[in-house]
Amino acid sequence: MKVFVTGGAGYIGSHMLTELLGEGHEVCVYDNYVNSLPLALDRVRTLTNRPFETVAGDLRQGERLAESLKAFRPDAVIHFAGLKAVGASAAFPLEYYENNVQGSIALLRAMEAAECHRIVFSSSATVYGEPRYLPFDEAHPLSPINPYGRTKQFIEEIIRDWVAARSGASAVLLRYFNPVGAHESGRIGEDPLGPPANLLPFVSQVAVGRRPFVSVYGDDYPTRDGTGERDYIHVVDLAKAHTAALTYCASRPGCEAINVGVGRGATVLEVIRAFEAASGRTIPYRIVARRPGDTASSVADPSKALALLGWRAERDLGDICRSAWAWQSANPQGYRSTAS
Ligand code: NAD
Ligand code: WQD
Repeated sequence: MKVFVTGGAGYIGSHMLTELLGEGHEVCVYDNYVNSLPLALDRVRTLTNRPFETVAGDLRQGERLAESLKAFRPDAVIHFAGLKAVGASAAFPLEYYENNVQGSIALLRAMEAAECHRIVFSSSATVYGEPRYLPFDEAHPLSPINPYGRTKQFIEEIIRDWVAARSGASAVLLRYFNPVGAHESGRIGEDPLGPPANLLPFVSQVAVGRRPFVSVYGDDYPTRDGTGERDYIHVVDLAKAHTAALTYCASRPGCEAINVGVGRGATVLEVIRAFEAASGRTIPYRIVARRPGDTASSVADPSKALALLGWRAERDLGDICRSAWAWQSANPQGYRSTAS
């Protein structure tokens, strides 16, 4: 299959590439490197020993995008490109709507021009908002509580309408829970710019000595140990859900939203302990106030992914922490650690 990957240089995109290339697919990456480095793509080339095309471009450069799609003639698009920082989305909502929503419309237009009607989209469990019940299934009402989450909800609806208007078109909207971990080689991984906003990269940077301690945001939640509980999904398992979604799209028109999670939660303290075991390092932490906007618990019901895609997560929290440590210990400063 020929697959056009927007945002392919990013954290999840780079892991996706290793899966696609490993399965023999032809790939073209379209990325503006606003939150990534071309070096990640060089690492993917060395890891897989497979060539692929790249275009440096922004989704909102409509003509460039349309030309790239027309030249590559993909069978399907995987759409990762987008801004993802929850806090920044509240401070700069218009940037988020322009980049994510306008960018996605430009992508669908360019796909029409290139006669490509299949898309797998990176949505997020954040579209559900505060849980009315747990685990979240796909029928749970959507009520995101920040502009980032609303961009995901709006893009889902836009894709749904686009599919409904085109006979034969198909889309899978994958609602990721908490993607974490790294490729087992330790060559690619998550490399946030500045202090990490998310737990796993923060814990990794404490383990490697870049930061002194983890701030645990609250220990008075109604969970096993009082700290927040999340459904952490290994990024390689997540990538495999996309290849399953591509196969599904190829044979079934229509639009489906599908959760991608393990179906089991881990608390902040459980994550810290698992990371200590994986790294052999002590991870100092301090309990601090709750982070505004956080929920006590978020866990997926992943049964639709199994029923429709035949996919289920195969890696556990230990695998997540070992792979994240392999990446962080070999690349203490991320991709900026070495020249290659
Ligand atoms: P990332 O920032 O590492 O990757 C996104 C990539 O898109 C980057 O390489 C960035 O340079 C590129 N990009 C952004 N805007 C662009 C534009 N206008 N034109 C071209 N390229 C652009 O993020 P990630 O963690 O790999 O996430 C990938 C997708 O998955 C995003 O859409 C994100 O919202 C979604 N998602 C991520 C998480 C998570 O926790 N990582 C959870 C749920 C959903
Ligand atoms: C996990 C748990 C924190 C950092 C976010 C986005 C969501 C999605 C994934 C894209 C929570 C606690 C965290 C720290 C801590 N992204 N924590 N100390 O908030 O579930 O989801 O990323 O779609 O939209 O909101 O993930 O990793 O930030 O937090 O105690 O330094 O760790 O309170 O309980 P979250 P997270």
